[in-house]
Parts: sequence; C-alpha cells; structure tokens
Amino acid sequence: MTKHLLLEKYGLFSAKVPRYTSYPPANHFQADLGHRNQANWLAAVPEGAAVSLYFHIPFCRRLCWFCACRTQGTSTLRPVDVYIESLLSELREVRSRLPGRVDMARLHLGGGTPTLLSPETMTRLLTEVFEAFSTAPGFEFSVEIDPTEAAPELIDVLAEFGMNRASIGVQDFEQKVQEAIGRLQTFQETQRVVRRLRDDGVKSLNLDLLYGLPYQNKSTLGATLEQVLDLAPDRLALYGYAHVPWMSKRQIMIPDAALPSTEERYDLSTFARDVLVGAGYRPLGIDHFVLPTDSLSLAADTGQMRRNFQGYTDDPADTLIGMGASAISRYPQGYVQNAVSTSAYAERVAADGLAGHKGYVLSPKDELIGDMIEELLCDGTLTEARLITNHRDMAAEISNSIASLHAAYPDVTVLEDGVLRLSAEYIALSRVIAGALDQTITPEAAHSAAV
Ligand SMILES: C[S@@+](CC[C@H](N)C(=O)[O-])C[C@H]1O[C@@H](n2cnc3c(N)ncnc32)[C@H](O)[C@@H]1O
Ligand code: SF4
Repeated sequence: MTKHLLLEKYGLFSAKVPRYTSYPPANHFQADLGHRNQANWLAAVPEGAAVSLYFHIPFCRRLCWFCACRTQGTSTLRPVDVYIESLLSELREVRSRLPGRVDMARLHLGGGTPTLLSPETMTRLLTEVFEAFSTAPGFEFSVEIDPTEAAPELIDVLAEFGMNRASIGVQDFEQKVQEAIGRLQTFQETQRVVRRLRDDGVKSLNLDLLYGLPYQNKSTLGATLEQVLDLAPDRLALYGYAHVPWMSKRQIMIPDAALPSTEERYDLSTFARDVLVGAGYRPLGIDHFVLPTDSLSLAADTGQMRRNFQGYTDDPADTLIGMGASAISRYPQGYVQNAVSTSAYAERVAADGLAGHKGYVLSPKDELIGDMIEELLCDGTLTEARLITNHRDMAAEISNSIASLHAAYPDVTVLEDGVLRLSAEYIALSRVIAGALDQTITPEAAHSAAV
C-alpha cells in the first residue's frame, strides 16, 4: 500500500482531533471547578518549589483573520492599561496565596500581542513580577512577538529584564497568502526585529510558520522557507492552519475555495519538513524544528521534552500558573481556566482576587492517559516501563493499551522490548493515535484537521 493510502486508511485526511496541549482538552473543563479548587491548589504548592508563570495579554491592534487565539482588537492603549491593573491585582493575590518562598522556573508573556504594551506599562508589570518571585536556576523568560507591533524601545525593556527567548509570528511571507489571511508583514520589518533582538543579546529566537493557508503551494512555501532560513532562527514551529470558523468568527473572511485539501496540506507539511531537515534542523514532536545546539534538542535526548499550552518545552516545573483573561493553569491536581472575557475576568479579580472559573480535577486514569499522549506527541513512543513507574497501580492497563494500539496500527508502529514506536515517516499520525487513547473525545466535538 502506498504511504498516502496508508495514511488515508488510518484517517489522517478525514479525522478531526484536538491538538493535545492538555489532557483532557480545554473543551472538557467544567464550569466553576476552577474557581472551587484554585485557592487550595495554590496553597498546596510546596515551600521552595519552582513554578512557571504565564501572563496572557488578550489585545491586538490588528486582528488577523486566520488567528484562533483569544484576543480582542483595540486602537488605543486605554483598555490595555485598565486590564494591566487587574492583572497586577491577580498577580498580588496569587503570590499571597503561595507559600513564602516559591521561585520562577519560566516566565512567558503571550497573547494576543504582549508587545503592544507601552515600555512604561511593561516595565511596571515586569518590575512587580520580579519583585514577587525570585528566579530558579535555569530560569527562562520568553515573549510572543508580532514584528509589526514591536517598538525597539519595548524590545530593549524586555531584554533589560532578561528575556532570553523570543517567539516571532511569521506565518508566511507570500503577499497573496498574507492578503488572504488578513495579515500583512514584510520580510524587512521581520528582519529588523530579529536584528534588534540579537543586538540586545536575546539568545534564542523561535519563528512560527503555518502550512495549509489559502493560496499556499510548494513554490510559495519554498520561497517563504528560504527567507525564514535567512533569519537563522534557533527554533521553528510549523503549525497546520486550524480552520475553525465556527469558533473563530474572523475566519469567515478566509476564502474556503482557496484552502488546500487535507492531502495537499500533508504534502505541504512534508515538503517543508524536508526543506528544514535539509537545512540542518532537527524535527521534534509533531511540529517543531530546532538547531541541534538548541536546549529543546538536548531535552529531547534526555527525555525531558514536554508538551504544554505553549507547545513544546523543556520546562521542568509541574505547576504552571496562568494569569490574565482565559489563561489556563496546570497544577498536579488539575486545571484551572480564568474567566474568558476581559470584562468577566476584571469582575472576578475585583470581587475575589483570583479569576478561576472553569476547571478539571484529574483522576489517576486521566493522569495516565495524559502521560501517554504527552510521550507519544513528544517522542512518538510509549514506553511501558516508564509508564508503569509513573502509574504503579495501572500496569495491566498500560500493557493492554500498548498492545491494542499496536494491533490497531500495525503497519505504522513497531513494538519491541516494551516500547511502542511510531515510525518516523508516519509521525503525522501522532494526533490521530493520541485520539485513540483519549477517553473524552466525542464525534461531535468540532476539532481541527488531523493534518
Ligand atoms: C497567540 S499567537 C501570537 C502571535 C503574535 N501576536 C503575532 O501576531 O505574531 C501565536 C501563534 O499561534 C499560531 N496560530 C494562531 N492562529 C492559528 C490557527 N488558526 N491555526 C494554527 N495556528 C495558529 C500562529 O502561528 C501564531 O504565531
Ligand atoms: S496573529 Fe497575533 S496579531 Fe494577529 S490576531 Fe493573532 S494574536 Fe493578534
């Protein structure tokens, strides 16, 4: 059977599956469970622990049509500055509920567009963050950057506070594609921002790219990749464009007829993969490419690579505290999602100090499935011995799941010495196979294409 037929047989071109940045996926979080558990879970963080912090800035001056992120448009900084007051209140409340000494393993600013903040407001926010938390050894500070909205002075402020990783949105450099997705951005302005970051000593640069966009073909994608390689990023994220207009209303502006088919999406992704591997990048997980010197490559070698809401990471902390509207926190006990709209978020912070709303309490079974899905999406493997060490009471279940997966996907997996391995050339099936482990997936759940 040809590779395409095999991929078709296993549903790659028809399946709709979650991205599994959490298990269960956020659409299974339940109203009020976050609110009820948040204070106790914060109080249970052990003294001296290292936690990671995420701050969500849900504002953009431009609203790109393709974007599925939680954000709102604004033409002035007034609502942003009001929002930052709530964010600072939430930060103080979170800090007061944690034990006396807690260090920061990672600090990430995401959105939306964090670089929309004025240098003064960013300085205020970061001053409070660094006053509230000391940094753990190996601390990293990363920020999502829209190159069209990143003033040099703002980049300087971030660098002064120690930003050592920047994640830059590119998507595609082809003008026709950019026009069709409502996001204009020249190579030159991207290059200016990259240079400023490097001049300021920001060591690690990540670029986000998308395949599956309208009017994209191998020739346009090849040209974009050439320009991207010119910028020499340390990491690249190559995401499949998630076309979900029922969730992200702006996407109705995207011309459906110009979108590639799922087979074409697959061909674009393998084309890009080949170009990047040919240029010396190491493919990691389902959508990352890194230079062999990058810390994520090292983490992959030592089994420390993990998957969280920001994608792939080498963050060792088992608690990630998300602050801001719609931000999600992960505690060993479960998930908490803050109120989603900025108005509901501000009301909760004003009333209660904390903003948790939806949430999920993890059962031992959920923890096992989450661990299996994470290993599959990070390494393309399921290691029986490791899983049994982590979930001692479920040895029989682990062996059965691994055997059943091998039986269900015999042509694309190998089972040897208790390790199930998805063949590298079929890595695109990772999310489909993860879906087979998922106990919460329902046919009506409207996820994005598996490829
Ligand atoms: C939260 S956005 C922030 C990016 C930043 N504001 C910018 O414009 O550069 C981070 C990344 O999510 C990805 N993203 C957004 N919408 C997406 C979609 N519909 N499908 C796949 N990835 C998407 C994009 O690659 C984007 O760079
Ligand atoms: S891609 Fe970035 S700038 Fe565009 S809408 Fe999404 S978050 Fe905002």
